[in-house]
Amino acid sequence: MKRISLTQHLVEEQRLHNTIPAELRLLIEVVARACKTISHAVGKGELGDVMGSAGSENVQGEVQKKLDVISNEILLLANEWGGHLAAIASEEMEAIYPIPNRYPMGEYLLLFDPLDGSSNIDVNVTIGTIFSVLKAPEGMKNPTEKDFLQPGSKQVAAGYAIYGPQTMLVFTTGNGVQGFTLDREMGSWIMTERDMHIPDDTSEFSINASNARHWYPPVKRYVDELLAGQTGPRGKDFNMRWIASMVADLHRILTRGGIFMYPADAREPDKPGKLRLMYEANPMAFVIEQAGGAATDGKQRIMDIQPDKLHQRVAVFIGSKNEVERVTQYHNT
Ligand code: AHG
Repeated sequence: MKRISLTQHLVEEQRLHNTIPAELRLLIEVVARACKTISHAVGKGELGDVMGSAGSENVQGEVQKKLDVISNEILLLANEWGGHLAAIASEEMEAIYPIPNRYPMGEYLLLFDPLDGSSNIDVNVTIGTIFSVLKAPEGMKNPTEKDFLQPGSKQVAAGYAIYGPQTMLVFTTGNGVQGFTLDREMGSWIMTERDMHIPDDTSEFSINASNARHWYPPVKRYVDELLAGQTGPRGKDFNMRWIASMVADLHRILTRGGIFMYPADAREPDKPGKLRLMYEANPMAFVIEQAGGAATDGKQRIMDIQPDKLHQRVAVFIGSKNEVERVTQYHNT
């Protein structure tokens, strides 16, 4: 494959295919630059004084790690001055962050989970950053939370950076999914995956099985059938992987197929799952669908859900199409 940089890819998309307007190109470059900085901080670990708890809680009542706070700050500072954004929302901030008056206001809204997989930070396991881009509503003057409450189908770009053995940036602007590896010596993103595609079928699934006793019947039935292996109704063996960083689990699925599930369960009947619709489920659903996969909340397509809260949670079934369709069908019968 011809090795091209992120900048060249974006310029060519803009010039040749007209799929990326100039402001969106700038936005993606700025997010990519911020992720480079986060990758650097992550890589320093204890040497950079970035490990451990920040001694604060986020809006979900979760203890924030220092790296959650640092990554949030890096993304805010990188994005506020470029003139491409109207406002920012983050999983780590209760309220939206309108672009300060001293900077010009752009036409996009940026949402992110600055550091996904927080429980893996201190144990040197892969983590990531997830981002989603929406267009600000026509004629919007002073952005409010309401302006962000658009279904995932309205996203104009989404993706993630994964901080693993290699740092990669994977994203879509609605024209397939491309992956870039960070060349650490040169400091540039180089395309290493073109038009990523998820096989429709898989023999691998991903779920936190320690919650099995709380699962509702459709999930229990589906997983029991997978576990029954060759002699069960599915007639084949399934393998299981659970990294506990959505970015890492979905990157594996994007690379070789699989299904990832974080269902609602009986522990908290009022809560529709753990993951956040706007910061995790929607952007990942956009990427996975663009790669030929599917994403539902067990009943309906994730990207069709009309959000009513910025920090709304949702059940997630995402990955290889035929498996997502099967578990969704179990919920709907
Ligand atoms: P966080 O927002 O705290 O980083 O949560 C991580 C998410 C997701 O990345 C992962 O798949 C899931 O939580 C893991 O949950 P369990 O700890 O329940 O396994």
